[in-house]
Amino acid sequence: MKIFLDTANLDEIRRGAEFGVLDGITTNPTLVAKENRPFRELILEACRILRGGVVNAEVVSTDTAGMVREGRELASWHPSIVVKVPMLPAGIRAVRLLRDEGIRTNVTLVFSPAQALLAAKAGAYFVSPFLGRLDDIAQDGLGLLREIVGIYRNYHFETQVLAASLRHPMHIMEAAKIGADIATMPYKVFEQLFQHPLTDRGLETFLKDWAKARESLGEIVEPTAPKIGR
Ligand code: G3P
Repeated sequence: MKIFLDTANLDEIRRGAEFGVLDGITTNPTLVAKENRPFRELILEACRILRGGVVNAEVVSTDTAGMVREGRELASWHPSIVVKVPMLPAGIRAVRLLRDEGIRTNVTLVFSPAQALLAAKAGAYFVSPFLGRLDDIAQDGLGLLREIVGIYRNYHFETQVLAASLRHPMHIMEAAKIGADIATMPYKVFEQLFQHPLTDRGLETFLKDWAKARESLGEIVEPTAPKIGR
């Protein structure tokens, strides 16, 4: 499963990229608006940091012609860019037109298997079901993911399933078990994936024991215990 960060924050992208396990990022108009930087400059800097990783950038038009125009523009900025298009009838038309021009799209704001089926039929490169937002209204986000993965398998659709709106590590692990191609997550959730109290406790014991025995160990390395985010 590929790991994307769901952020437009360049510090988070930089920090995430340093681990060497990041495959890309997803952004949306809300995330970009928070950063207070020119859109193009921000997206291009993300492409530079991610060195070949995928950068998802979203259109804001809601008519087909506008989405296609924006999609062409976004895709022309850098080969790493995938164009996010909202799941609207006009968006599905735009996805098909952009696909025919070789432009990769990500159909976003997907909340039903029927919408995901249409996205795949139109030739989307990614489809983004929003799990957390369904959970927020007491519907089963992971259930939706399971249905989409099942349908895509039945028909060998090439569209990759990008599990989005993930809020905690269990979402990520369940998405992996279901077989999502990609999970996108906030930086905070990415950090949580590293953690286990038994790892911390085990390491503490190892280092204490090492320090107690150091006299008898001869030439030893000074122990350090760097942690994510520190
Ligand atoms: O990538 C989609 C994602 O940004 C939505 O997440 O947490 O705003 O529902 P959230």
